[in-house]
Amino acid sequence: MLINNYLSKLDIKKKLIENLNSITVSQAEQEAQIMISYSSKSENNLDNNNSEIDQELIYKILNERVKGKPLAKIINEKGFWKKIFYTDDYTLDPRADSEILVEQLLIDCEKNKNQKYLKLLDLCCGTGCLGISIIDELDNAFCDFIDVSKEVLNACKKNIINFNQQHRTKIFHSNLFENYPINRLKNIDFIVCNPPYIPTKNYLNLNKETLYDPRISLDGGKLGMDYYVKIINYLISVKFKGDVYFEIDPIISKNMYKFLLEKGVKIVYKKTDYLNLDRLIKIKFPKH
Ligand SMILES: C[S@@+](CC[C@H](N)C(=O)[O-])C[C@H]1O[C@@H](n2cnc3c(N)ncnc32)[C@H](O)[C@@H]1O
Repeated sequence: MLINNYLSKLDIKKKLIENLNSITVSQAEQEAQIMISYSSKSENNLDNNNSEIDQELIYKILNERVKGKPLAKIINEKGFWKKIFYTDDYTLDPRADSEILVEQLLIDCEKNKNQKYLKLLDLCCGTGCLGISIIDELDNAFCDFIDVSKEVLNACKKNIINFNQQHRTKIFHSNLFENYPINRLKNIDFIVCNPPYIPTKNYLNLNKETLYDPRISLDGGKLGMDYYVKIINYLISVKFKGDVYFEIDPIISKNMYKFLLEKGVKIVYKKTDYLNLDRLIKIKFPKH
């Protein structure tokens, strides 16, 4: 299908794109380039000679990819914001949609850049892509990471070590806030959270590729609201003073706004993503 010693790197790329298009991969060109980079361990450029491409490896990757396995799950890495994160069978592969949380939080933090320390909590952290990307841009920021899965936290730890952020981070194995010290929460300035939010009946109809991500990272209960409700109720009960940035989705946004109104929680702003879909909500809790 692909292997031929006389193929140039450009020819290999064309062949990859042809094969990827045959299984209707939406970003065939981008994926082909990632496969080449990964198999030649070079940056995304085409000026190295062919001998640097591990053709056996690229063939193996393509073979798995055409069977429908997502590329990130094959090569165990996914680009997010400005870095390449380790990901595996236990983690949700970081999504470009979630980058808006990093972008907005950084815009808001511009106003706090003279503050001595910024304390961040990445709740439902997965690979840690949100918290790590944010503190990587802010010299005065520290981040705690919470996830319920030990395997997920191993992946998060790997990323923290890869990006040399051990000194500004702490990991908590916890079912939401269950094992997270209340005194620590009281000092948090920002929570960033992308919880599981797919309504169960939609989860069961997700496309085959999305189902490679673990159910625990996607299924948000009957209406997709289970995590938001638990998190918001808890933060109200402890009179949390910081700001919360939630990733949301059009499937749950109406229910979310209704719930926040009932609870008297202030929506600071909402943002849509590049497809003009509801994607981010920033909230603040009433002062008592
Ligand atoms: C949608 S993923 C988000 C991962 C990452 N923050 C991102 O944006 O790519 C949701 C994460 O929530 C975690 N999770 C599920 N239930 C949880 C719970 N009860 N407490 C803490 N984390 C939980 C999952 O393991 C998963 O890593």
